[in-house]
Parts: sequence; C-alpha cells; structure tokens
Amino acid sequence: MKASAVANANIALTKYWGKRQEELILPQNSNLSVTLDGLTATTTVEFGNSYDRDIFILGGKEQSGEELDRVVTILNIIRKRTGMKLNAKVVSENNFPTAAGFASSAAGASALALAVSKAAGLNLDEKELSILARINSGSGTRSISGGFVQWIKGIKEDGSDSYGIQIAPKEHWPEFRILACILSTEAKKIKSRAGMKQSVANCPFYDIWKKTADEDTEKMKKFVHEKNFTELGRLAEHNCLKMHAVMQTTTPAIIYWNEKTIELMHAIMQWRDEGLECYFTMDAGPQVKIICLAKDVPEIEKRARAISVDKILECRLGDGARLMDKHLF
Ligand code: PMV
Repeated sequence: MKASAVANANIALTKYWGKRQEELILPQNSNLSVTLDGLTATTTVEFGNSYDRDIFILGGKEQSGEELDRVVTILNIIRKRTGMKLNAKVVSENNFPTAAGFASSAAGASALALAVSKAAGLNLDEKELSILARINSGSGTRSISGGFVQWIKGIKEDGSDSYGIQIAPKEHWPEFRILACILSTEAKKIKSRAGMKQSVANCPFYDIWKKTADEDTEKMKKFVHEKNFTELGRLAEHNCLKMHAVMQTTTPAIIYWNEKTIELMHAIMQWRDEGLECYFTMDAGPQVKIICLAKDVPEIEKRARAISVDKILECRLGDGARLMDKHLF
C-alpha cells in the first residue's frame, strides 16, 4: 500500500492559459511542451489504518487548504475506483523552487498520479495517468510522458479525451536544450489557477487567444517533427508573448515579469541579431527559459552571466514519470 514515483517538470512551447471546465481541469486550447530532465518532483504515498485523515507534506511543510484539497481529490478518485477506504500520507519534494513559475505543480501532479495509483494496486496506462494528473494540475497532464508532449484539449464533458500524448521521444532531438534562468525564488503572488480564471472571465483579447492557440499548437507539432529550430523558436516566443499579453490585459492585471526578465528578453533578441540563435519563453513567474541548441550553450551562458544572470540550469529533454524503489518515509 506504499509507492514512490518521480516525474520531471515540463516547459510549454505553446501554452495552456484558461479552462473551459474548472473541476475536471479541461483546457480552452490544446498546447505542447517539452519534458525536461533534472527538474524533478519525488512523491511517496502510503495508504494505511494508522492515518486518521489524509496528510500532505510538501517540501517538509504540512499543507492545508487548496494544496491539500487538490491531493485529496486524486486520493478520492482512486478510493472510489478501488473501493478501498483508507486514508493516506503523501510526502513530496521538488529539487527546484516551488510556485515560482517553474511548472513545479506539473512534476508534482504526475509523480502523485503514478504513486497514488500504484500504492492502491492499480496499473494505469499513460493515458489514464495523464488524465489523473490533469485533475491535480492542468500542466501535470504533460509530465507523464517524456520528450515532446501535446495536451489534446478534447471535447467531451467528462474529460476522457483530454490528456497528454508523446508526439516525439527525447531521442528525436538530442541537441535540443532549455536553459532555465532563475531570476527570483519568491513564490508568485497570483497562482496560475486563479489568474487564468480571471483572464477567461474578463480579458478583452481572450477570444483571440482561444482562436489562435490551437493553430499555434498544430504548427508547433509540425516544426518539432521537422526539427525546424528557427520556426519553432519564433513561434514559441510569439505564443509566450501572446499569453503574457492576455495576462497583462486581464483585470486585475497579472504581471509576472520583473526588471531582470525584461532585460534578459532584450538581450536574447540582441544576441539573435548578432547571429547567436536562441529564443525565450516565460510562464507564470519571472524566470526566463532560453530555447537553444547544444552547440550554443557555452556562449549563451557566458553572455547571460555577463549581465548577472547567475543561476542557470541546463536542461535536456527528459523522461516521463517512473516508479522508484526508494521511499521518502
Ligand atoms: O497547470 P498550471 O495551473 O500550473 O498552469 C500552467 C500555466 C502555464 O505554466 C503558465 C502555461 C503552461 O502551459 O505551462
């Protein structure tokens, strides 16, 4: 009745911003991400008689409120499915900043889905795991698989056709890199869940986002298959700026960037003009993720350090969620 799993974070090349259904976390648009190696969440789940309630400990701190509720939702789905009634202890650790725009929730959701289902004696396939992870955190649906992953938005009310599928394995593009530049480790003030709800409700440009986001994802898929780095980078940057334009024109305004974010965006555009090909993308936080190829990593890192960007994590494409023998407790 105990299992542990590890899953990697993912970074979206075309973004998810907005739900069409809140409870099951069904997105307004399809989107596409890369699963990264090295940025991991590890989770151990144990069901047992000795627990008089469900407990969730993240990064050494017992969680309550929304964080706990989201875990209990997953436990309840599995209890309902198996008929088992035991409470559970869930312990999770991230090896990177939590809630600072690093898709920590995605890695956590995927590790949780795999560990909970296994601890309850189920062997779910990738599609079922992805659906389960989605109900904990939308972007989590994309971290069950490795490499390049598309979250198909689906059209069904019950969410059974809304999940992540691998469109290319990590071996498809071994030179592909993301340089994650950590510009602040402060937790974000507006969580993506609350922010995107506001955008759907009142951003005047939301319809344009919705209309173009699926097309962007279809194009992105083609560029991945063709390994067309230039078009992929251009589109990733455009789609990211479009999402941030939606965020910023929501009421109240959601501005995740800080002055360092903007400085680095300008620098990247400048480096590109000088022939160093790289592109930026940002999520619900100030961190800039630089999309580049392996051959350019040393030069990009050198230039980033020259403008005082010190914490840079070089990420290759990573694997999907997997079980672990070692438990956290
Ligand atoms: O799954 P959430 O609620 O953490 O939302 C993630 C939203 C973005 O990171 C901003 C975009 C994305 O597709 O990852």
